[in-house]
Amino acid sequence: MNPLELIRKKRNRGTLSYEELNSLITGYVDGRIPDYQMAAFLMAVYFQKMDFEETAHLVDIMVHSGKVIDLSLIPGIKVDKHSTGGVGDKVSLILAPMVAACGVPVPMISGRGLGHTGGTLDKLESIPGFRTNLSIEEYKSVLRDVGVVMIGQTDDLVPADKKMYALRDVTATVECIPLIAGSIMSKKLAEGMDALVLDVKTGRGAFMHSEADAIELAKTLIALGERFGKKTIGFITDMNQPLGCTVGNWLEVVECIECMQGKDVPDLMEVTYVLGGAMLMLGGKAKTIDEGTNRCREAVHNGKALQKFKEMVKRQGGQLSYIEKPASYPQSKHCVEITSTSSGDIDNIDALEIGFASALLGAGRMKVNDAIDPKAGILLKKKVGDTVQIGETLAVLYSDNENVLNNVKHRVAMAFSIATEPSAESPLIHAIIDELGIHPWHGT
Ligand code: URA
Repeated sequence: MNPLELIRKKRNRGTLSYEELNSLITGYVDGRIPDYQMAAFLMAVYFQKMDFEETAHLVDIMVHSGKVIDLSLIPGIKVDKHSTGGVGDKVSLILAPMVAACGVPVPMISGRGLGHTGGTLDKLESIPGFRTNLSIEEYKSVLRDVGVVMIGQTDDLVPADKKMYALRDVTATVECIPLIAGSIMSKKLAEGMDALVLDVKTGRGAFMHSEADAIELAKTLIALGERFGKKTIGFITDMNQPLGCTVGNWLEVVECIECMQGKDVPDLMEVTYVLGGAMLMLGGKAKTIDEGTNRCREAVHNGKALQKFKEMVKRQGGQLSYIEKPASYPQSKHCVEITSTSSGDIDNIDALEIGFASALLGAGRMKVNDAIDPKAGILLKKKVGDTVQIGETLAVLYSDNENVLNNVKHRVAMAFSIATEPSAESPLIHAIIDELGIHPWHGT
């Protein structure tokens, strides 16, 4: 089939058949269709969308662009979690070992940073030696022995997502429900999980800025889960300010280690515990989300989550010495503090601006092959709701590039908005969605 005709058909609001989509995606994966044609197709999808059937075909084709892992010989209900992408979203690094420590096996294929958002793979790879490109046999054996494994797409596993993800990142075609759904569900279906918990983010730092779009994305993902026979539930969670206090790969790993050592970073740990509780419920280790959440808290407080994290790091080649002594990690050449020019209450920290600023500092990519600086990023000293005095530090920026650091300073300062009156708190977890519909979330 002629790719040009298929691009034109989508551009003109047509619906592509399974065969048509298959010829485009497989042609792209095996190199017959160049990046520029796939980029044009992605942009056409961005504007003209796909209906549910077309999206389900896309998922199926992407899954079968590589091998599909069979985990049936590994005992237990395998449960994974995926986030639709946020700033400072490091939840997976704590959640996966925590849930595994509670007895639910967690197989996880994650992605790299996309747009202004960070990626679990980049965070893991900031740990010297950590391998995210395991062979399928290694992946299975780590899951069997440790109970948790975290890898990326490879030339064998969802290669269609590997290539399309990188292309979307640099062609402004990320924020599109069928493309996000294809990307997420193809990874999850290929990895061999039995059930899935989704963290669908909404707000300035999310790909879905409005709650209505986030709900539509969640419903699409859940319907796809059902279509492919995997129990799937989702939470709509806030992404207006960054999650936790760090943005940038190694900074985020350190925050996760500290949380697993018992430090309370309230927003980060609330999301982590609730998603973990849901995973335990789906994995048959808790009757309710509340019960699962309590078990997860216990696994953090008794040190079992951190122990499991270290086991995984070791098995995947990471140097444990840095986990045990994070201060031994190389430091950025330059750092600068952003201080407040007024007193009051922080009423907003624009996650989108912070995400872009962190990427510019070196924590993200501007072009497909850009190298990441694992040390670069932003430490937030204040969060929404905190009180601040003139001259107090709002954030600390880290980079090896002094010019960029100086250019980004203003952007980060402007991301903070300070009010003279305390503003009303908005909920972190808005709703839970399952195959029956959307239900308000009242907390645990
Ligand atoms: N996460 C993914 O894996 N893919 C997307 O497209 C967005 C978030």
